[in-house]
Amino acid sequence: MAKKVTKIGVMTSGGDSPGMNACIRAVVRTGIYHKLEVFGITRGYSGLIDNDIHKMESRSVANIIQRGGTILKTARCKEFLTPEGRKKAYNNLKKLGIDGLVIIGGDGSFKGAQVFSNEFNIPCIGIPGTIDKDIAGTDFTIGFDTAVNTAIEAIDKIRDTADAHDRLFIVEVMGRDSGYIALHSGIGTGAEHILIPERKTDIEAIITSLQEKEKRKKLVNIVIVAEGDDYGGGTDLANLIKERIPNFDIRVAILGHIQRGGSPTSIDRLIASRMGYSAVECLIEGKTNLMVGIMNNKMHFTPLDKAVKAKQKISDEWLKIVKILAT
Ligand code: F6P
Repeated sequence: MAKKVTKIGVMTSGGDSPGMNACIRAVVRTGIYHKLEVFGITRGYSGLIDNDIHKMESRSVANIIQRGGTILKTARCKEFLTPEGRKKAYNNLKKLGIDGLVIIGGDGSFKGAQVFSNEFNIPCIGIPGTIDKDIAGTDFTIGFDTAVNTAIEAIDKIRDTADAHDRLFIVEVMGRDSGYIALHSGIGTGAEHILIPERKTDIEAIITSLQEKEKRKKLVNIVIVAEGDDYGGGTDLANLIKERIPNFDIRVAILGHIQRGGSPTSIDRLIASRMGYSAVECLIEGKTNLMVGIMNNKMHFTPLDKAVKAKQKISDEWLKIVKILAT
């Protein structure tokens, strides 16, 4: 029989994502509802090691559901990769009597949670918070929907000016290893081409298609490229196209970190609230080493190691849709 949790810690770790605050709020208030003491850990695993841990009350999370970023701040922590770092972190938790952790972050954060939980027998529940949507076992990750909507708003504006000047725009969106933001924002804005890390970029096919468009005087084109595409980023692509099709008037827009900020969409607020609530329920039920996700609109629980190893698969049908719709 699992030991009953009485004090839990919550942290955000890795790259921030819009909706993390809504999730912190849900964890804190669900914990307090169940008469648990809840502690906020500042700057993820770094705060755990540095003992930057503070008791939270219901009012600590007032007026944050609509805010981007994370009130707990976040970090990527190298020291937690070492056994010494993890031991320091454990000692701090032990001093405070914290006996369960909720980690809101991406796959790197989950790897840390898994090792830590196995070493010190601390129940850990992960919640997928990343704009990249690169974690298996959930249809959504917190922040993805907001990031896609931010990208769509920007690309719509870019299309206005592209149209006014008859220009080809290369728009680089985030996604070091993941093409989901590129794919969703590209389909949503009617992009002519979408380049993603999960598929080898056939640069000759893109050049041929653009040459064909140039012949029929279709000069306004939007090409979306994920930053981690195998061919390179937006600038590399623009240079090559300029060389091969000099008649195109080309501009590059790199959307960058605006995709990580801003007020979360309704979807992100909702999934963050549901996942935060469910993570606390998991700890109370004695579960550990799980990631809380949502699949087919139902809560779905995946062992942390599986969530980390398996990536989401890009649908070939979606890529076919891009080709058919952008002529
Ligand atoms: O993992 C989220 C993400 O936004 C990636 O899409 C991007 O490559 C990376 O973080 C950027 O990280 P940083 O903020 O450290 O530059």
